[in-house]
Amino acid sequence: MSQSAKTPLLRLGVNIDHVATIRNARGGRHPDPLRAAELAVEAGADGITAHLREDRRHISDDDIARFMETLSCPLNLEMAATDEMLAIALRHKPHACCIVPEHRQELTTEGGLDVAGNFERLSAVIDRLRQAGIRVSLFIDPDNGQIEQSHKIGADIVELHTGSYCEAALDRQGDGRRRELAKIEQSANYAAEAGLEVHAGHGLTFDTVGAIAQIPQIIELNIGHFLIGEGIFGGLHSSIRRMRALMDNARAEISGSLSA
Ligand code: PXP
Repeated sequence: MSQSAKTPLLRLGVNIDHVATIRNARGGRHPDPLRAAELAVEAGADGITAHLREDRRHISDDDIARFMETLSCPLNLEMAATDEMLAIALRHKPHACCIVPEHRQELTTEGGLDVAGNFERLSAVIDRLRQAGIRVSLFIDPDNGQIEQSHKIGADIVELHTGSYCEAALDRQGDGRRRELAKIEQSANYAAEAGLEVHAGHGLTFDTVGAIAQIPQIIELNIGHFLIGEGIFGGLHSSIRRMRALMDNARAEISGSLSA
């Protein structure tokens, strides 16, 4: 078997939270996140990701119900490990749930889960989700200790937080980008060796996606804010298509180099 056959395809999950942010600015129905989700699939997304936050600042309960009724692709529901969110997930049974840490005052998800520090609570939530046939992903920093705990607790997937890498990439002088990327590469390998499916996301842009797409153990990227923001300038369809092409081209390069 050639190495290219061993390099799995890379899925794109488009996070449509910030379409809801714009809608909620006026409290009406426009722009509709469901319409954006359908357009994302047309443009090449493999799945839709939505974060139902405890304060409902963007995605609403009704959005989740409409996605579940209408979408033809898998829904990845991001949620905090609370009783309320667990009940909602069990009612809708999305394809997957990604458990994230959540603090009310934060602007976005700041850092990954502390799996060891919340082991009992996470374990109870993960068991219930898995019993309902929902795949469970844990959003963690690229850290071997968190990966070991994620494996021990019975998660199916880890989503590696790419925020520090993307932040470091803004500084073109320093070697922070290289250092943060190396952590993600090492963690992706470590998690895959442990038998976990590996995803990644947060803060990814046209500039930063290529290097992450070239990590062969990563099989899904979840990308939102940048795509919606770029949509303002060139249209959402076009921003997603370009991201998809950058991911696919980067992946094709490693398939080529591994099989050479
Ligand atoms: N993955 C997770 C777990 C997230 O919490 C977020 C942000 O909601 C993303 C991916 C997408 O991040 P961004 O919107 O910065 O692309």
